[in-house]
Amino acid sequence: MRYGYFDDNRREYVITRPDTPLPWINYLGCDAYFGIISNTAGGYSFYRDARLRRVSRYRYNNVPFDLGGRYIYLRDQDSGEFWSPTWQPTRRTLHEYTCSHGLGYTIIGSRYASIAAEVRYFIPLGENLEIWQLSLKNEHGHPTRLSLFSSIEFCLWDAWDDATNFQRNFSTGQVEIEDGVIYHKTEYRERRNHFAYFACSERLSGFDTQRDAFLGPYRGWEAPAAVERGRCFDSVANGWAPIGSHQVDLTLLPKETREIIFLLGYHENPADQKFDPPDSQTINKKTVLPIIRKYLARPNADAAFEQLRDYWNRLLGSFQVQTPSADADRMVNIWNAYQCMVTFNMSRSASFYESGIGRGMGFRDSSQDLLGFVHMIPERARERILDLAATQLPTGGAFHQYQTLTKRGNNDIGSGFNDDPLWLILGTAAYLKESGDWSILEERLPYENEPGTERPLYEHLQRSLRYTLERLGPHGLPLIGRADWNDCLNLNCFSDTPGQSFQTTTNKDGRTAESVFIAGLFVMAARELAVIAQKGGLGEEAAQYMAAAGRMEATLLQHGWDGNWFLRAYDDYGHKIGSDECDEGKIFIETQGFCIMAGIGLENGNAIKSLAAVREHLATPHGIVLQQPAYSRYYLHLGEISSYPPGYKENAGIFCHTNPWIMIAEAMAGHGDEAFDYYLRINPSAREEISEIHRCEPYVYAQMIAGRDAATHGEAKNSWLTGTAAWNYAAITQWILGIRPEYDGLRIDPVIPAAWGGFKATRRFRGNTYVIEVKNPSSLNRGVKKLLVEGSEIPGNLLPAAAPNAAVIHVEAVLQ
Ligand code: BGC
Ligand code: NOJ
Repeated sequence: MRYGYFDDNRREYVITRPDTPLPWINYLGCDAYFGIISNTAGGYSFYRDARLRRVSRYRYNNVPFDLGGRYIYLRDQDSGEFWSPTWQPTRRTLHEYTCSHGLGYTIIGSRYASIAAEVRYFIPLGENLEIWQLSLKNEHGHPTRLSLFSSIEFCLWDAWDDATNFQRNFSTGQVEIEDGVIYHKTEYRERRNHFAYFACSERLSGFDTQRDAFLGPYRGWEAPAAVERGRCFDSVANGWAPIGSHQVDLTLLPKETREIIFLLGYHENPADQKFDPPDSQTINKKTVLPIIRKYLARPNADAAFEQLRDYWNRLLGSFQVQTPSADADRMVNIWNAYQCMVTFNMSRSASFYESGIGRGMGFRDSSQDLLGFVHMIPERARERILDLAATQLPTGGAFHQYQTLTKRGNNDIGSGFNDDPLWLILGTAAYLKESGDWSILEERLPYENEPGTERPLYEHLQRSLRYTLERLGPHGLPLIGRADWNDCLNLNCFSDTPGQSFQTTTNKDGRTAESVFIAGLFVMAARELAVIAQKGGLGEEAAQYMAAAGRMEATLLQHGWDGNWFLRAYDDYGHKIGSDECDEGKIFIETQGFCIMAGIGLENGNAIKSLAAVREHLATPHGIVLQQPAYSRYYLHLGEISSYPPGYKENAGIFCHTNPWIMIAEAMAGHGDEAFDYYLRINPSAREEISEIHRCEPYVYAQMIAGRDAATHGEAKNSWLTGTAAWNYAAITQWILGIRPEYDGLRIDPVIPAAWGGFKATRRFRGNTYVIEVKNPSSLNRGVKKLLVEGSEIPGNLLPAAAPNAAVIHVEAVLQ
């Protein structure tokens, strides 16, 4: 069952009924001011940091879910009937409803009582404000007198404090109302120099800024007292809960259309120009009024919208494909790339599942996210790498997370996740391959942000590798520390106390538990750094890294192979995890994917065995589960993984982040049909038909789909902010379609379903645009035997990087 459809031409998903199984959300903003918005206008906005500068309130995990939003009420002045054109919060049955989520904007339209209404929400590029562009059309044959009421509930900036510190916050709220603009200025008198504003293009008939006046005692957003009676109270908030509501009365003639603009924004004043007059406590509005005036004018709002569309078209234009699969095309061309940009902007901070007050930027998460956006915004990827490296510890270890506002490591979580530093090497390698910008290696960055400790990025990478080598366990495999990629495999934790954090509690000395996953990751990272060293003229060092990788590979084959698949780890007792010998958790997905991706087992047949085991034990129609059999009880020595009920999250859920590793491994083994089959199993668009089972948005990946042990097998959770986005993007574009940036050029090595006759792609790469046509006349899976550049054949399948000059270069590749 579907709840809407894809409009690929407009790059939108159009939802056709408001009561989706879960809020289906979208993101507004590209730069500093951001918002999340659901299909019924729920959501909130913030400036830079979803915790510390939250502009509006949202109620997570409440009933009904998804409450708090950018709501508008319409009221027929004659009948007294009122409704919300976005369905929530009145939930009046609308006669027609569509929500079009596009790239950086959302348009919600509906019809009720012969009034057609449409609201377009977006954030102009480079501005700290959002525009709500409302158009109303009277479809009656007679004039209609309408009142409309806007509404937003302000957050008192620090979202955590706002949700907990009531004894203070019920007394601090302050607003100003001037010329129809509502200013939210809590704490502006003292240490803040920022305020929020809410403006309207029309003359007001009234306003409210005190929530409880607007709603009335014991009433909710579904039927505010002001709307019900048809008149605002002109309330001025002093403490309690400041809101913004404008009342606009208008008469629409038959067939008349009117457009009304609301602006919600964030503004900072220079510290010495906060007040006007300077000795008053009144906000100085001189700096913000020009911005407000600009965007309340419709032509400017329209122009800003067109600029936003151009921006996204330009970004997505860096890679476009046409394949025999509509599901692959729309994910690669539109939604997967878009989701990668959202993970770049948000990391794991704000979604329907991430409250915006929890996690900072993950070190490994951010390094992996890079894989999905580096080709669209290489300069910003560069900056991200430098930010990450500057938080690295002198030992080579890494803070598990850092905060966006301060760019400093987060002490609460600390370090000791022993895989973390290695991801920095892979992230940097991805940047080098995309950009060819070797100068990044010379950038001098401190350790732990400590001035005076600056060393070249290259040295940071050297220390990352050394960090693993200095932490080997009894079998010569890397010690796991607090956890590796699997945050829930906490082998040194042994926690029996409720509420303790599995990620930060360490009750063992950590000298026994080893990770086969980190071993695979190390082999991959060491070989990558060897190439980087070689290219930098450090032949001897390169040879050392290759030797270290070789030794680790040998150790892995000796102690990390279980006979039919790769082992997962050794626990604190030195016992195997992920072995046929285990009662539960006999086989894990991560090592099957990562070891093969590192090239291990491709020559001796282990890879083929491992992939067959994945197919036999882990694959389901909804994707590949993380391990089997699921843990049926809590194991003190395993940690959080066994705290989840079977089939959810890391305990045998389909943890979508890992599935592309198997797709890539299948592609490396030459299995194009298998790789693409796995790709489609979790492709959100391919799952659109089963939206009632999948339940999350059909246009973006979710972190997890419930595994076969779960009661709700096939149900997705935690959409949007997940490493799944970047890795699936890498799997389909670089390994299945096989258009893969390398240090010296663009590799064309598709591993596709035999039934595909070929495909076309356009790829911007280092300043030129490659128009690539792949032909597969003999129904093969792999094997480019002929490569023509502008009609002339070149040997091999690597397109050497041409000098950047905005050229369009035609390429034909033939599988034979
Ligand atoms: C989740 C993991 C997540 C971690 C972040 C755990 O509870 O299961 O998926 O990586 O928290 O700290
Ligand atoms: C989500 C975390 O953000 C990521 O870092 C981790 O690797 C996965 N969960 C698996 O535990």
